[in-house]
Amino acid sequence: MARQGNFYWGSLFLLLGFVGFISLPAEAAVKKYQFDIQVKNVSRLCHAKPIVTVNGMFPGPTIYVREGDNVLINVTNHAQYNMSIHWHGLKQFRNGWADGPAYITQCPIKTGHSYTYNFNVTGQRGTLWWHAHILWLRATVYGAIVIMPKEGTPFPFPQPYREATLILGEWWNTDVEEVVRQGNNLGLPPQMSDAHTINGKPGPLFPCSEKHTYVMEVEQGKTYLLRIINAALNDELFFAIAGHNMTVVEIDAVYTKPFTTQALLIAPGQTTNVLVQADQVAGRYFMATRPFMDVPLAIDNKTATAILQYKGIPNTVLPILPQLPAPNDTTFAMSYNKKLKSLNSPQFPANIPLKVDRHLFYTIGLGMNPCPTCQNGTQLTASLNNITFVMPRIGLLQAHYFSLKGVFRTDFPDRPPIPFNYTGAPLTANLGTSLGTRLSKISFNSTVELVLQDTNLLTVESHPFHLHGYNFFVVGTGVGNFDPAKDPAKFNLVDPPERNTIGVPTGGWTAIRFKADNPGVWFMHCHLELHTMWGLKMAFVVEDGKGPNQSVLPPPKDLPTC
Ligand code: C2O
Repeated sequence: MARQGNFYWGSLFLLLGFVGFISLPAEAAVKKYQFDIQVKNVSRLCHAKPIVTVNGMFPGPTIYVREGDNVLINVTNHAQYNMSIHWHGLKQFRNGWADGPAYITQCPIKTGHSYTYNFNVTGQRGTLWWHAHILWLRATVYGAIVIMPKEGTPFPFPQPYREATLILGEWWNTDVEEVVRQGNNLGLPPQMSDAHTINGKPGPLFPCSEKHTYVMEVEQGKTYLLRIINAALNDELFFAIAGHNMTVVEIDAVYTKPFTTQALLIAPGQTTNVLVQADQVAGRYFMATRPFMDVPLAIDNKTATAILQYKGIPNTVLPILPQLPAPNDTTFAMSYNKKLKSLNSPQFPANIPLKVDRHLFYTIGLGMNPCPTCQNGTQLTASLNNITFVMPRIGLLQAHYFSLKGVFRTDFPDRPPIPFNYTGAPLTANLGTSLGTRLSKISFNSTVELVLQDTNLLTVESHPFHLHGYNFFVVGTGVGNFDPAKDPAKFNLVDPPERNTIGVPTGGWTAIRFKADNPGVWFMHCHLELHTMWGLKMAFVVEDGKGPNQSVLPPPKDLPTC
């Protein structure tokens, strides 16, 4: 079982970490991990290639902690790439130094150097994940974070017999950085991945994959908790298990009102916990995942599979495939997302900001810019409110903390320069996007409402947006243009889903709310690596408050330099 595997690694590092300490209490609140960034040869789909890994593992080790723990993860970079690691979904209160996005909160860890990510896990429990946050290295550098509730606090759903982690990913047969370079030279999207994977394994629908298939053994009549993570670079995914329903109980480490479904939709960056009962005829059942794409850009219908295997059933029994929604099933996607609601119990309340101090409206645009050095003479680009974000050369958080001038501006506009019919007829003009490292300044503790509006600049498309340093409430979503006069009346201000990554629907909008109570510099971007790369990103500077515990903590001594 994955859980035992995780626990093994956790305990191993705990043991190593604690050598030299005397009489630590059994429920020690300090958890230590060593992450060695190493290049290793890995073979999939009949191709072997060197990939960047943590501790030689693919996927990397699971961080297994309890709510309230202090976690110390020492990352030592033995690879020839600059590295930084992001703990996706951890709030990092006042502590952006441990957040990880390269050039946003830290300079990368250079070859031969180390950095210790030191953070507390406060007020969060559930499934999150970690991944490299520089270039496309997260293609192979990722793993799960499991936060158990505090000792003595049960889950607000039936206690599962066992649990397992399923990380959905993508695999390229060739070097990913090379794939990206080729795409950039052409000014086109890099070539699509060669396989999807479940726990790093594509499953038997791909060549040479018999032994690269993840198998989860279950016992008849027992209930299992599956922690599902979408670590894919560029695909929203459907997931289903043949013959078995799933009960969704948590998303992005926040408990939900349970509901039962045959299939899940999960965007890159998101996590979903489900309960599954092994209540079918003992056998072998495929678990399968395949992209959701409701614009006919490039059709990707590769299906990764793993096997749910009842104890005692021989491997010779042929598994059955589940029925996944059609790749362009918008109706399924919308009705699935509608079912997601915060648990909002007295113990786990949903504290939705009811009054809004700051209204933001950001348009998501794709475009084509002239590119004399590109083979086609043009290159694809992306923007928010017509601004294509330019990465700085030093960490923005350092620049903010030490008041360094000339690194960024704080004039990111609250709305697009000119309103237009955002989702009307396709517009090929890029409306004169400009380049800039421009941030939006937010006062401490103010409540923010942000409407993310997809546009038909070049094409409509669904975009999973991730905000660092916060969870937000998804108070509303719709198709077409957001109507500030009518749509807010329909917002859910009672039990909206609370999460850290949200899909803005194709040709539609999503409204989120959060209270800016975490000072620092926080990245916000589309979690499709393709779009992040093209500039679909920005950052918020949340100012310090006046109180004693309301300002950014001092940086750690070993913070990397650029
Ligand atoms: Cu999981 Cu900034 O990303």
